[in-house]
Amino acid sequence: MKIAFTGKGGVGKTTLAGLFIQALAKGEKEVLAVDCDPSINLGRALGLESARKITPIAEMEKLINERMGVSEGNKTFFKLNPKLDDIPDKFAVKSGNIKLIVMGAVEKGGSGCMCPENTFVKNLLSHLILKRGEHLVMDMVAGIEHLGRGTAESCDFVLIVVEPTLDAIGVAKKIRIFARDIGVKKIYAIGNKVRGAEDIEFIKKNIDDITLLDTIDFDECFLKKDKKDGTFEVSKKVNESIQRIKKILEEDTD
Ligand SMILES: Nc1ncnc2c1ncn2[C@@H]1O[C@H](COP(=O)(O)OP(=O)(O)OP(=O)(O)O)[C@@H](O)[C@H]1O
Ligand SMILES: [Mg+2]
Repeated sequence: MKIAFTGKGGVGKTTLAGLFIQALAKGEKEVLAVDCDPSINLGRALGLESARKITPIAEMEKLINERMGVSEGNKTFFKLNPKLDDIPDKFAVKSGNIKLIVMGAVEKGGSGCMCPENTFVKNLLSHLILKRGEHLVMDMVAGIEHLGRGTAESCDFVLIVVEPTLDAIGVAKKIRIFARDIGVKKIYAIGNKVRGAEDIEFIKKNIDDITLLDTIDFDECFLKKDKKDGTFEVSKKVNESIQRIKKILEEDTD
């Protein structure tokens, strides 16, 4: 299963991606957790102590220069197909069935920047999606611009997290258009921080024809999480919602 979590800032992408990764990791297969957000907090959401010390891939200048064939002072010419197959195992932080890879600031020179760092990270992301056999869960920024066409086609699901607000739903619609354009087949919304039937109705009414996979309640357990490091106790209700979503996706995987 290859999944990207996306959506407007603050809607709960990292929180839900983290819970989903932990749920998947209880199975037999390993899970590659990929933090594509420059602000880097998936490791914390997963309760990985060592996550603080990780150097993001995009900041590994020596590695990137070497793999991209860049010489000092000349970043104009570089390889388009760097060697990547050893990277996940060398640079991922491992905890049980979870392997965390932190991409770092991909958008260094603005989106579409053709610098070696950007090219390397984009290539690595494609490699992870196309060539690896583990489950893959990506925590994206409010968009999925780092996925190129061929890569996006191999992504099983783009999950757009929405809050019951017009802004979050507006962003979801834009992401959906882009995701369709680059060939993602299954694009679903997950309603988060929902406080009752009225909120669910609001999302359904405004989201047009984007399939609303499920909703997750606003839950106090997350307030406790924000006040301390490490893992936290998820409420029974949230846990049930995550399991429900996992089941729906498993049944919907080709
Ligand atoms: N169901 C929920 N109930 C209550 N609070 C929630 C819920 N889901 C997420 N939160 C809280 O919302 C805040 C934002 O969550 P999170 O950081 O996961 O969002 P994000 O979309 O990854 O944000 P960013 O765009 O900054 O990366 C956090 O404080 C988190 O604890
Ligand atoms: Mg986040």
